[in-house]
Amino acid sequence: MTTDFLPLNGTDHIEFYVGNAKQAALYYQHCYGFELVAYAGPETGVRDRASYVVQQHKIRFVLTTSLTPDSEINKHVQKHGDGVKVLALWVDDATKSFQETLLRGAVAVHEPKTLKDELGEVVLSSIKTYGDTIHTFVERKNYKGAFLPGYKAVKNNLKVTPIGLKHVDHCVGNVELGHMNKWVKFYEDVMGFKLLITFDDKDISTEYSALMSKVVSNGNGYIKFPINEPASGKKKSQIEEYLDFYHSAGVQHIAIATDDIIHTVSELKKRGVEFLHVPEVYYDDVKERVGHINEDWKELQKLNILIDRDEEGYLLQIFSKPIQDRPTLFFEIIERNGAKSFGKGNFKALFEAIEHEQELRGNL
Ligand code: FE2
Repeated sequence: MTTDFLPLNGTDHIEFYVGNAKQAALYYQHCYGFELVAYAGPETGVRDRASYVVQQHKIRFVLTTSLTPDSEINKHVQKHGDGVKVLALWVDDATKSFQETLLRGAVAVHEPKTLKDELGEVVLSSIKTYGDTIHTFVERKNYKGAFLPGYKAVKNNLKVTPIGLKHVDHCVGNVELGHMNKWVKFYEDVMGFKLLITFDDKDISTEYSALMSKVVSNGNGYIKFPINEPASGKKKSQIEEYLDFYHSAGVQHIAIATDDIIHTVSELKKRGVEFLHVPEVYYDDVKERVGHINEDWKELQKLNILIDRDEEGYLLQIFSKPIQDRPTLFFEIIERNGAKSFGKGNFKALFEAIEHEQELRGNL
């Protein structure tokens, strides 16, 4: 038996570089029920940026904006629009994680460094992944503060009601044509992940577009990264549209787990979050395909939630429209009832819904 050279405890946080972090933080509080827990900026002695940390159960998002014109943050926003910069992984030893991955070919972004304040210390180190995205290893076993040294704990400025979002289920990367296998190999060789599933263009194609996807996962299965690349179809695929607007590979969607999708999605819709719409005919044969489930079919249809089954159980899922003006990042809300797969039975209906939106944008 081989030991895992990169043991991961889970997703530590996801950091977004955005044009206006103050407003973005309010969006996550108001629409998604996140609580504002920490802040760093001029008031805490940070001169060049402002960062807001919002949290719900195990999910922590950091929204960062630049206060100066020529910063690395602003260059990122100028090129990509609002998007994910850091997929941070929670580890017991950030120095060892850095060394082990570098030894296997990772490109360093930040050498291990220790940050301290009166509540303890955190060790951070970072390596590159696809596009301008990075992985930061976070070692926080000796820290009791709200987020990281340099951040101060803050009270929510709004009374929020959590909506049942529990943890990050998976984060999907879109990479350029022909690059999927290179990044799968990166996760296998450099980070010790295993290939979980492969979808080819026969699984994922519609009249217009196709994509290929491979899912890699770490040893304990807490971290799952599907990697997509475009495949040739009649017209521009959704992955190409993403790459055209993000101007590089990057994070396409973040899937967030809930244990009550009907409640979660009802609340999200009430609060103004927009979802892709799948035509009603989807529900004509779904009962036959999926069999018995515990939820009320009518309720699921009313909310336009998709259902799929694999050998181990079933899952319920729904996809948001892009969460910024560029057709790039979006969210998936997922409730797993035993199923460990990704909703292959829904791909066709889902991609047709995406293509409908692409058409409206003039990008098909
Ligand atoms: Fe997904």
